[in-house]
Amino acid sequence: MDKNQSHARRSFLKKLVLTSGAVAAGNYLSASESEVRKIIGLGRNQTFAANDNVNVALIGAGGMGTNDLNTAIMVPGVKMVAACDLYTGRLEAARKKWGNDIFTTKSYKEILNRKDIDAVIIATPDHWHKQISIDAMNAGKHVYCEKPMVHSVDEGPEVIAAQKRTGKVFLVGSQGVSSLGNEKAKELLKAGAIGELNYAEGFWARRDPVSVWQYPIPDDASEQTVDWEAYISNTTKRPFDKLRFFRWRNYDDYGTGMAGDLYVHLFSSLHFITDSVGPDRIFSTGGLRFWNDGRECPDVQLGAFDYPKTAVHPAFNLSLRCNFVDGTSGTTYLKLVGSEGSMDVTWDDVTLKKNNLSDSGDPFLQKQKSANASEPRKKILPPGVITYKAEDGYKGGPYDHMVNFFTAIRSGSNKNVTEDAVFGYRAAAPALLCNDSLRQKKPMHWDPVNMKKV
Ligand SMILES: NC(=O)c1ccc[n+]([C@@H]2O[C@H](COP(=O)([O-])OP(=O)(O)OC[C@H]3O[C@@H](n4cnc5c(N)ncnc54)[C@H](O)[C@@H]3O)[C@@H](O)[C@H]2O)c1
Repeated sequence: MDKNQSHARRSFLKKLVLTSGAVAAGNYLSASESEVRKIIGLGRNQTFAANDNVNVALIGAGGMGTNDLNTAIMVPGVKMVAACDLYTGRLEAARKKWGNDIFTTKSYKEILNRKDIDAVIIATPDHWHKQISIDAMNAGKHVYCEKPMVHSVDEGPEVIAAQKRTGKVFLVGSQGVSSLGNEKAKELLKAGAIGELNYAEGFWARRDPVSVWQYPIPDDASEQTVDWEAYISNTTKRPFDKLRFFRWRNYDDYGTGMAGDLYVHLFSSLHFITDSVGPDRIFSTGGLRFWNDGRECPDVQLGAFDYPKTAVHPAFNLSLRCNFVDGTSGTTYLKLVGSEGSMDVTWDDVTLKKNNLSDSGDPFLQKQKSANASEPRKKILPPGVITYKAEDGYKGGPYDHMVNFFTAIRSGSNKNVTEDAVFGYRAAAPALLCNDSLRQKKPMHWDPVNMKKV
């Protein structure tokens, strides 16, 4: 630990002791006590002029697109004007939700040609993210693109280049990075709350069919209602298959498996909290154990990642696990473990657990010491577990993420966009390399600084 880190840790401990109201003397920790604190901040300062209206269009009006759009229009001055989807049923639903006067189409290019649209939200399956993002920025639109930013590792540089060339605002949709929970975790780590980081992990357990991607298929699904040719126009040509359209996550041509769907959120949050640029060694294993429904991706997958030491963090390891045949273990979001404690991080809260430092000395020396000294007087200890919670009424990470997107558009700059194309690529690449490692049965090497496969 360098001098600054050790100073930060001391002042964190001092604040912890003072704010908990405890008398600090020697051992200040007790794992049995807990305390709940509030993370300050319900919303953001939102100032915008009357002519600051932003017109948005949604491309991919399914589950997440609908959530994103509904969150976007909560931001003052944001107006929904158009929707694009390849399935007729989704366009009809869009008109019902957002009004008959919105423009609807099956061709995203028609959206990009319209002069009344400032920004697009792209929530299509993953295999369309790169092309629609690039076409949209080239057409002068700001882009909110769902995660993972790209479908394969090779696609990242083109998106980064398009963002640089066009200067358009580009934000990837891992909403956690804008949440109070992630911000608090970043602040606590920096203040030395868990000491030196050595390990992080995330785990998803799911069991019910819809959560493991067996989505319902609409009764009217057919080539008359779905533009199948457009859907597969950038990938393997195949005859119409409603499973491949409505359950796209299960197939490699369109989805990115557990890693691209779920791990990518953890990479985003972890990189935001630690200021890391990513791992340099990636290994994954797993297999299809139960859901033999034609899917190509595993239903149990493990990932192990080496993060090398950088100027801003020590070397540490990350472990990610996903089990779609486990209905009992419960999902843990992100856990960070350090030499002095750990943090469980969600978007709305952080639970900080401190080690009991009385155990940290050499047991032999401690025994000798206590043999020579009379039993010391007991102390009052500060809490060992502290939960920082967002205030009631907090609108959440998804809302804050949209606020950040529209604030960037209004300020005309990508400067304060955390999850821009470079950040989005650094989160997507290790997730996608995880799948490559699983398929090739070997570790993958990645240069996270220069963003290149090694
Ligand atoms: N940030 C998050 O928390 C989060 C959560 C869920 C999904 N997602 C992401 O959002 C995206 C969409 O996922 P979903 O669960 O909403 O899937 P979905 O199947 O519900 O929706 C996708 C929609 O895109 C349409 N579509 C397919 N190709 C298209 C194209 N070329 N042009 C226009 N529309 C097209 C489909 O008809 C469908 O309505 C994925 O990339 C996914 O990873 C993010």
